[in-house]
Amino acid sequence: FATGKGKAPLRVAITGASGQIGYQLLFRIASGDMLGKDQPVILQCLELPGAMNALKGVSMELDDCAFPLLKGIVQSDNPEVAFEGADYALLVGAKPRSKGMERGDLLAANAQIFSVQGKALDKTANRDTLRVLVVGNPANTNALIAARNAPNIDPKRFSAMTRLDHNRGLAQLSQKANCSVTDITDFCIWGNHSATQYPDITSTKISGKSISNYISDNAWIKDNFIPTVQQRGAAIIAARGLSSAASAASAAIDHMRDWTYGTNGQWTSMAVFSDGSYGADKGLYFSYPVICKNGQYEIVQGLKLDQFSKERFDVTNKELISERDAIAHLLP
Ligand code: NAD
Ligand code: LMR
Repeated sequence: FATGKGKAPLRVAITGASGQIGYQLLFRIASGDMLGKDQPVILQCLELPGAMNALKGVSMELDDCAFPLLKGIVQSDNPEVAFEGADYALLVGAKPRSKGMERGDLLAANAQIFSVQGKALDKTANRDTLRVLVVGNPANTNALIAARNAPNIDPKRFSAMTRLDHNRGLAQLSQKANCSVTDITDFCIWGNHSATQYPDITSTKISGKSISNYISDNAWIKDNFIPTVQQRGAAIIAARGLSSAASAASAAIDHMRDWTYGTNGQWTSMAVFSDGSYGADKGLYFSYPVICKNGQYEIVQGLKLDQFSKERFDVTNKELISERDAIAHLLP
């Protein structure tokens, strides 16, 4: 059983802590799913003033789980307090997309939140250890806003979540090829966490062999697989009347765990600070295939993009540029 005896606790800040995703995340982090079964944590929860009572209830439930690794719970509506000394920040709190609403509509509504939170991270978080994951949509552009408002923090410490898209892709492929998700390697998501994302199977292998040995139906990839992954968020909203929550929290846990402890040489997908690799606009938070090692991610280099891939890459790159242009006034 987890005890974490003798280890100093790590400080994990979570915004939107009493929302749908927060309600899943807190319990999984406190039980050791993210940082390990021997790593004590302090949860530092940020909510809006109107949700502080709900947060109090969640905090009571956390107490009632008697998690051995949970060494403290901070509850605040002030980002500077919630981010104080934070080693990890999961920026989830935002207005979620409702039925029929386009992600673009969310841009303006949510941009302000991430500019305030970037400034607060810059002021009070632990700049030497911090890892930031933006989950709140539009996640890539919100990460850009937060990072640019935190001039004293390395932009490589910020990231946005495309791990849910990555996991969705793995699930669809494993069902089609009748294999385990762990048999699938070298799959990735390029670009934006939106319907323009490009789930790419060009390099993908199953049990070490080209995926074409298992899925030879190219039409299925183009007309079924790619749109299914791109539209999965909307499909879940249509079915549930609410956006994905447990799967989003699970992906956030996967993202932070892998960034911290590594991917054993395997690819995963993270939206990270673009250094211009593959022609993505420099400075955007762009989803790439990455390998995590020694607590850091590295963008996989040297891949060849065919014409089909290039076209899709350009579409998602252009969308991210247009999102950035729409909030340019919030970028110092
Ligand atoms: P939710 O409405 O259930 O919860 C959001 C919470 O954030 C609420 O409790 C709200 O009070 C709080 N909040 C709002 N503004 C805040 C602020 N400025 N500071 C602190 N807290 C604030 O929403 P949810 O379902 O948990 O989704 C959260 C976000 O995650 C949405 O933007 C959603 O679109 C996004 N999302 C992203 C992915 C992804 O893969 N990147 C997947 C699913 C959902
Ligand atoms: C998802 O991918 O499930 C979320 O980002 C929901 C959305 O707004 O698309």
